[in-house]
This record gives sequence, structure tokens and C-alpha cells, in this order.
Amino acid sequence: MAEIEPFHVMALLARARELEAQGRSIIHMEIGEPDFPTPEPVIRAGVRALERGELFYTPTPGLPQLREAIAGYYRSRYGVALPASRILVTTGASAALMLACAALIDPGDEVLLADPGYPANRHFVRVVEGVPRAVPVDAASGYQLAPTHLERHWGPRTAAALVASPSNPTGTLISTERLAAMVEIARARGGTLIVDEIYHGLVYEGEYTTAAAFADDVFVINSFSKYFNMTGWRIGWMVVPEAYASEIDKLAQNLYLAAPTPAQHAALAAFEPETLAILEKRRQELQARRDYLVPALRGLGFDIPVMPQGAFYVYAGCGRLTQDSFGFTRDLLERGGVAITPGIDFGANAPERHVRFSYANSIERLQEGVARIAEFLRKS
Ligand SMILES: Cc1ncc(COP(=O)(O)O)c(C=O)c1O
Repeated sequence: MAEIEPFHVMALLARARELEAQGRSIIHMEIGEPDFPTPEPVIRAGVRALERGELFYTPTPGLPQLREAIAGYYRSRYGVALPASRILVTTGASAALMLACAALIDPGDEVLLADPGYPANRHFVRVVEGVPRAVPVDAASGYQLAPTHLERHWGPRTAAALVASPSNPTGTLISTERLAAMVEIARARGGTLIVDEIYHGLVYEGEYTTAAAFADDVFVINSFSKYFNMTGWRIGWMVVPEAYASEIDKLAQNLYLAAPTPAQHAALAAFEPETLAILEKRRQELQARRDYLVPALRGLGFDIPVMPQGAFYVYAGCGRLTQDSFGFTRDLLERGGVAITPGIDFGANAPERHVRFSYANSIERLQEGVARIAEFLRKS
């Protein structure tokens, strides 16, 4: 427990809410979830499920029709045929990551992780007594693990490498070639690649596909949280190698029994053409926000050497503005009325010189945020 840290952004968010309660206006650029509501067809499906009384446990791996629908989505979106038996519905990507770590890691086993990266990952590893090995990444590899990192850092106790593409906090993608090469390296060393695809769908340029398209021994993590705008429903899924499906079913039975039943019924509507059309509009809106925000931040003196191709984050170097990103985010909130996330939340790789901006906010609010940051910088 001593090694598990809270997300610093949560304290920042709490302070922002406190200031708002005192009547201050705060521009939120720290939040890690879409600002869009759950699409109407999904809500309607959820309400209908509640009214029908669909409130009993489902089978642990998920409603059979939802597993089939997810398999259908892989067919239509990526052209990949997957048996529904390899798809397990989970309580968000969070539970899927936890299950993957529990299934693959023995005490003392190492897992390679990009730094900066999603902060919970190292804790999932730690909870099952694994050893998270943070590998510093920078602009040269698009802030992602690359095959060369795996070759260099894979040791005798390494069991897996965990990547996210697009990444939180950097929004960058791993190319299909690199992903395939990393699968090969992991396989050759008797290990596994875990690929978190939670931000799939929210990609604005560049070709990408699921790792399940070219390997059936990877663990693919996904969720209804981000692209489908369903964070609070707590539902996601994983694609696992056939040999692991019943093992993970057993584990999930014991850990949490099943994902929420109403959420599973609601998620059945997530792949309807009507929903996908709504989501595509929202993707375009996010792209417009990114296209506004990145040049605006560069103009203020933030360093963004690689254009983030996906998610809704910009990971920016602030070394020309401050050497203390934590103090900077605190002062910016208190004096400037803008909330952003300090680098410390994403690892130990120069966090004091980085901050994360989220563009899960309207373009008008982002413009106001940029104006406030400009004013704050002028005064400091
Ligand atoms: C990279 C990444 N993976 C997993 C998660 C967990 O998402 P959820 O449990 O809501 O599906 C998040 C949430 O921010 C994330 O950024």
C-alpha cells in the first residue's frame, strides 16, 4: 500500500471544485474523460434494461449477445474475425488491466512500461507483486515504447510489456510495424505484449489497427469509457488468447463476479449505426479542438515536439516557462483559474518539466483557457 500513490490530479480537481463553490470560474483542462454525454441510443437501451428488470448477475465473461456484438465490431471496424469466446466483458479497462496483470505476472516478474504513462499501470503490476520497470521515452520514439526499448530492457525476469496506443498522457500512436515488431520480441523471449487500445476510435490522423489483427497471443484491452463516452457505466472488455479465456473467467468470478448488467445492455446499442454516427461527429469535434489547442500552446512557449494523433491530451514541455510543473499547475489554478495536470502524475521522467492538457472541453472554453494562461504568464 505504501507504494500506491493517489492521482495528484484528483487533489487538483477537488481544489478546483472548492474554488468554484466560492464563485470562481475555472477552465477545466485536467479532466481525463470526454465532456460529451453518453449517446442517446445507449441511454435509451440502458433505461429499457432497467425497466425490464435486467438487474441480475450476467455470466462472468459478459452477456453472450454483447460478446458477439464486440466480435462484430472487430469485423466491421478492423476486418478481423475473432471468436466471441476470446472476448471478455469487464468493469472498464481498469478491471481488464488488473486481470491481465494477475494472469501474466508471478511475484518478482517485471513488466516494461513507458514513462510517461498511465499512472495506474505500475500499481496494477505492484498489486500482484510484480515489478514495474519504467522505461523513459521521449519525442524520438513518439513518447512510446519502441522495439529497441524492448530489446534493451527485456531481462530474465521480464514477463510482459504494457503499451497504450494512443497513449495517456501523450496522445501518440505506435505504428503497426512497431507494434508487430514488439509482439515478436515479447514472443521470442517467452513473454507477452499487453496493448491498451482504450483510445482507439479517437484518432485524427495516421493508420492504425488493433493488435488482435496480427497476433492471437497478445492481450488487448479496451473500454466503452472514452470513445463511447460511457465512463460512469464502468464497462470495458479484453481480447485474450484462447488458452487464457477460462483462466481469466475463473479469476474475474472471484474478483468481481460480472460487469454491471444495465451497462452491458446499454452497451449493446454502442455499435448501432445511429450511435457510431454521433461518435464520428464528436471525433471530428475533438480533432478541431486539438488543431486549435496545439499551435496555441506552442505560441505560449510550451514545447510539443510530436503532434498527438489521438485521445484528447497534449503532453507539453514547460521547461521554458518553469522548472517546477507541480507549483506551476497549482499557481495557474489559484491565480489563473485554469486547471491542468502536472507531469508528476505520469512518472519520474522529467515530470517537473511537463504538464498535460486535456481538450475534453468546448473550443470556447479552451480559447478562454489559453487567454487566461497567456495572462498568467505575462504577470508571473
Ligand atoms: C490509458 C488508460 N487505460 C485505462 C484507463 C481506465 O479506463 P476505464 O476503467 O474507465 O475503462 C484509462 C482512464 O483514464 C486510461 O487513460
